[in-house]
Amino acid sequence: MSVDLQEHFDETIAHERRIEPRDWMPDGYRATMIRQIAQHAHSEIIGMQPEGNWITRAPSLRRKAILLAKVQDEAGHGMYLYSAAETLGAGRGDMTAKLIGGRQKYSSIFNYPTLSYADVGVIGWLVDGAAICNQVPLCRSSYGPYARAMIRICKEESFHQRQGYELLLTMMRGTAAQREMVQDAVNRFWWPSLMMFGPPDADSPNTAQSMEWGIKRHTNDELRQRFVDMSVPQAEKLGVTLPDPLLRWNDERGHYDFGPVDWDEFKAVIAGNGPCNTQRVARRKAAHDEGAWVREAAMAHARKNPERVRV
Ligand code: 3HC
Repeated sequence: MSVDLQEHFDETIAHERRIEPRDWMPDGYRATMIRQIAQHAHSEIIGMQPEGNWITRAPSLRRKAILLAKVQDEAGHGMYLYSAAETLGAGRGDMTAKLIGGRQKYSSIFNYPTLSYADVGVIGWLVDGAAICNQVPLCRSSYGPYARAMIRICKEESFHQRQGYELLLTMMRGTAAQREMVQDAVNRFWWPSLMMFGPPDADSPNTAQSMEWGIKRHTNDELRQRFVDMSVPQAEKLGVTLPDPLLRWNDERGHYDFGPVDWDEFKAVIAGNGPCNTQRVARRKAAHDEGAWVREAAMAHARKNPERVRV
């Protein structure tokens, strides 16, 4: 590798310009981008399952239409992101095989069950809210195709978060039983939502290098704090209690102090031992297997009509 290629890469990053698919990049940068984008894409696709569970049981045609649109958006986000990973030389089949084989991760949050319809609202409010905190800075990520995919994804995430919050506002104005359903869902999803931002910075092997390469723009703890600060006033407006007795405003810091996250639970979930890991991956595998005939038909068609195949 010539020194000026590395210098040009370093200068591009230093001047906050974008790295594009045809640019030279260090192998480590390429591998990190493939890892992060693939896992992001896997999260979007697996993330369809928890809420998809409630599509047939939505309480009205309006709620069903909203939920259908949201779950469909997540599929689209997965497609954008797999396409972004492909610009780095990653193969979609290989990424899917790595997901199903447990050699690539997806977000821990999707390994929790959705036990009531209120979970649909809480996932929109908290999980998509956390995604927005995490993904808006990624619109400035140094890898061009990833950053550009984030712009459209973040616009759609805003709709996801608002529809969830509006659903919860409606339920909180409903019966006592509906209010209890919402509070129960908040109690189950609050701490796993904080885990979405990754381990504490001190235990994050990837953050320092990803920050240096302009892949990540903030650390895990910075974004987690931003999410807590955003969510507390929203919870107060909703009339729910966040399940953290240590949560309180700290004037000196200008942020909310919050209690310790259960990192043992986090490590267990990302090691495959969460409540729904087996079910989520089995369902993804089944969908992939059931779709084999579509892939074979598309390949047969491409072989018969090579002139019509777009490279
Ligand atoms: N779930 C699963 N694995 C996680 C995790 C989580 N919540 N947080 C961290 N990890 C993994 C990392 O992947 C890494 O493992 P690896 O080296 O085998 O990949 C390890 O734990 C150490 O974590 P690091 O902080 O060192 O890793 P990163 O620098 O990659 O940071 C991240 C983790 C903050 C998730 C970062 O990868 C990121 O910002 N990714 C892009 C956003 C994303 O993937 N969001 C997932 C949710 S998608 C979503 O919310 C959909 C929406 O529609 C609801």
